[in-house]
Amino acid sequence: MLKYLALLFAYFLGAIPFAYLAGRIRHVDVRSQGSGNIGSTNAFRLLGAKYGLAVFAGDALKGVLATALCLNFWGPWGGLGGGILAIIGHSWNPFFKFKPTGKGVATGFGIIVVLVPWISLMAIVVFILVTLITRYVSLASTLGAATAVLVTIFSPVPLAYKVFVFVAAMMIFVRHRANYQRLLKGIEPKLNY
Ligand code: G3P
Repeated sequence: MLKYLALLFAYFLGAIPFAYLAGRIRHVDVRSQGSGNIGSTNAFRLLGAKYGLAVFAGDALKGVLATALCLNFWGPWGGLGGGILAIIGHSWNPFFKFKPTGKGVATGFGIIVVLVPWISLMAIVVFILVTLITRYVSLASTLGAATAVLVTIFSPVPLAYKVFVFVAAMMIFVRHRANYQRLLKGIEPKLNY
């Protein structure tokens, strides 16, 4: 019974909308300003660096906890399931009528910190470098996720983790479709810091 509750818990943990809650503190609705995304980049953009980084930490922690819990109850494939459920809860949120909400990057990062820590380090280094060089967080997220996929494919890790990193990256790419269109048109906003 507890092991099924762990999966449910992972889903609802993923759904905690930290960016939205941070916006409420400052009386800003992140859903209707900036990119409208309920995520750390939009929190950074609208509320400042402190809030943006705090939201990133909170969103990543959701991934860490959901995965660690499910891994404990179910083993590698359960870790995968818990991670995917946390990203689904975050990206298509039940508290917002399942509309597209976050893009799953920080939560996905938290998950791979647990599953494949050394690969998460490589992904975050790529993410930080691309952000610093281009100031396009969407591009940094995409290249960070792509790095994780490529390195995982060729690493000696359980098949469940390879599947997770691939599926999570696909979900992240799908949620960034509007960003890619803006990047191609040259109208994607850069991050100011
Ligand atoms: O992690 C989300 C980031 O890659 C893009 O966010 O708000 O610019 O769409 P945003």
